Amino acid sequence: MTKKNIYLITGTSRGIGEGIAEALLAPNNHLICFSRSINHDLRQKAKAAGVELDYNTIDLSKPAQSAELFREILEDIAPESIASITLIHNAGALEPLAPVGREKDLSKIGQSLNVNLTTPIVTSEVFVSVVQNWAIDKKILLISSGAGIHPYHAWSMYCSAKAGLEMFARCLSLEQSTEDQPVKVVALAPGVVDTSMQDFLRTLSEDTFHQVQRFKDLKANDQLWSPAFVGGEIRKLLERPDFGSEVRLDLRDLV
Ligand SMILES: NC(=O)c1ccc[n+]([C@@H]2O[C@H](COP(=O)([O-])OP(=O)(O)OC[C@H]3O[C@@H](n4cnc5c(N)ncnc54)[C@H](OP(=O)(O)O)[C@@H]3O)[C@@H](O)[C@H]2O)c1
Repeated sequence: MTKKNIYLITGTSRGIGEGIAEALLAPNNHLICFSRSINHDLRQKAKAAGVELDYNTIDLSKPAQSAELFREILEDIAPESIASITLIHNAGALEPLAPVGREKDLSKIGQSLNVNLTTPIVTSEVFVSVVQNWAIDKKILLISSGAGIHPYHAWSMYCSAKAGLEMFARCLSLEQSTEDQPVKVVALAPGVVDTSMQDFLRTLSEDTFHQVQRFKDLKANDQLWSPAFVGGEIRKLLERPDFGSEVRLDLRDLV
C-alpha cells in the first residue's frame, strides 16, 4: 500500500487555508482540518477526488484544548504507515483593531494572542514532541504576514503576534538543526490575498485604520492574489527539497 502524506491545516473554512487544502487534494494525501465552522464544500471536493479528509471543529483561541486535540490525533498515527507529516498553522484573526489605549475589552487581547501566537506555539510543541524521532519527512509551515516585520496603525496585537511567530520559527529551526531527525520549519508571508480578512479591512474608517485607502486601492486595482493561486504556490513551496533552508520567506519573492 502507498504510504500517505499527512497535512494538519488550521483555518480551512475559508480564505487562504481553504486554498491550501484544495491545492493539496491529491489521492496520496490525507488532510486533517481545523476551524470553528466546517467547510462542507471542501469535504465534498475531497470525497469526489477520493481524498481522505477529517474535519475538526475547534476554537483555536483555546490553547489547552487545542493542544489536547492535536496530541490525540498525532498519537493515533503510526509513523511507519506514512511517508511524511506537515503541520500548517494558517488560522489567524486581525481583531482587536484599535490603537493602544483605545481597546476597551481587554479579554480580546488575550484571545487575539492565543489564536495568532499561543496556539500555534503549543500545538507545534506537541507536534515536535510526538514526531521528533519519526524517520520521515516532517515540516511546520507558519503563515505569517508582512505585519510580522512592518508596524501598522491599530494592528499592534496582530503585528506583535506575527513577529512572535517568526521568532518562534527561527528558534525552532535553530534547535532542529542539531537534531538527527529534524523538523523543517518556515514562516511565510503570503502576500495580499482576496479573503474575508481583506473584505473586513476595507470596511474600516480611516480613523480606526490609517492605511485603509492603500488596501482599498489594491482591491480596486485588482492587485490581490486569489486564495486558490496562493494555495497552489504554497503546495509548490512545500514540495521544494530545500524547504526550511531559509526560515522567513515572503511569497512575493518566490513567484
Ligand atoms: N489575506 C491576506 O491578505 C493576508 C495577508 C497576510 C497574512 N495573512 C494570514 O493568512 C492567514 C489566513 O488569513 P485569511 O486572509 O485567509 O483569513 P480569513 O479569510 O479570515 O480566514 C481565517 C481562517 O482562520 C480561522 N480562524 C480564525 N479564528 C479562529 C479560531 N478562533 N479558531 C479556529 N479557527 C479560526 C477561520 O475559521 P472559522 O472562522 O471557521 O473558525 C478561517 O478559516 C492568517 O494567518 C492571516 O494572518 C493573510
